[in-house]
Amino acid sequence: MLTNGRLKIAIQKNGRLSEESHALLRGIGLDYDTRSRQLFALCRKLPVEIIFLRDDDIPEYVQDGICQLGIVGQNQVAETSADVDERLQLDFGKCRLSLAVKTDSSYSYVADLNGKKIATSYPTILRSYLAKENCDAELITINGSVEVCPALGVADAIADLVSTGTTLKNNQLRVIADIFKSQSVLISSRRNLNANQSQLIEKLVCRIKAYTNAQSSKYIMMNVKKQQLSTILKLLPSLQAPTIVPLGDEKSVAVHSVISRRDTWELAENLQANGASGILITNIEKLLP
Ligand code: PRP
Ligand code: ZN
Repeated sequence: MLTNGRLKIAIQKNGRLSEESHALLRGIGLDYDTRSRQLFALCRKLPVEIIFLRDDDIPEYVQDGICQLGIVGQNQVAETSADVDERLQLDFGKCRLSLAVKTDSSYSYVADLNGKKIATSYPTILRSYLAKENCDAELITINGSVEVCPALGVADAIADLVSTGTTLKNNQLRVIADIFKSQSVLISSRRNLNANQSQLIEKLVCRIKAYTNAQSSKYIMMNVKKQQLSTILKLLPSLQAPTIVPLGDEKSVAVHSVISRRDTWELAENLQANGASGILITNIEKLLP
């Protein structure tokens, strides 16, 4: 057992990353209940506790060893300059930190913001970006609803996260520059880890790798006439050599392969047009090396 109790994993309490963080933790076999307003959840079977925090606080909780693992955006890790290990990119929560101005304003370049006011929740990242761009703007640090600042006349521009772009559109704002690209990552603590904790962390990291590999892949199966086999094999992306299984009719084979989750429709249509039939594409639950 762990000497100081359970391994603690911090995830975002409410927000863009919450749903996919829960899906990932459940996907790696953690079994816990969520009740509204709770601050933590204990897992059955494994000595793990999930802690629900504001995403802004997660890097520091992991840095200080209060939580041993965290799921958070690279934006927050960079902003807090937290001393943590980035273990895995998780392929969700993708966004950019961008500079945006009112749609009808005359500003088009970073240089146009010289001497102007920029509102943001990311002063550290923004300050170093502006220094690199030789732009001398005044920063206004705000914790939430940065997007309303230009309309209120509080700032001439904002630096905020853009994911789909809906928030900017709703507030009549347009991007003039991208500052930082971000996605969710798994971070781990460098402090206060005992041997049991380190071992459990490595076990969970392996499971998360298997889960994220599975999420980014699909399994495809199809029947192919032998004379069309070489054409079909050329169309299959060579992530891994496909499995070729003989069929009862002697003229055809079944081809099975792991493919990327992206563009499966285009690939299936192309395979069909080149003679594959009975094309079946399924999800993969786990993919271990
Ligand atoms: C970010 C940002 C916007 C929104 C942009 O907030 O501040 O509000 O997401 O997304 P969109 O382009 O899809 O509209 P976030 O979810 O990180 O919340 P927080 O700042 O409260 O942590
Ligand atoms: Zn936040």
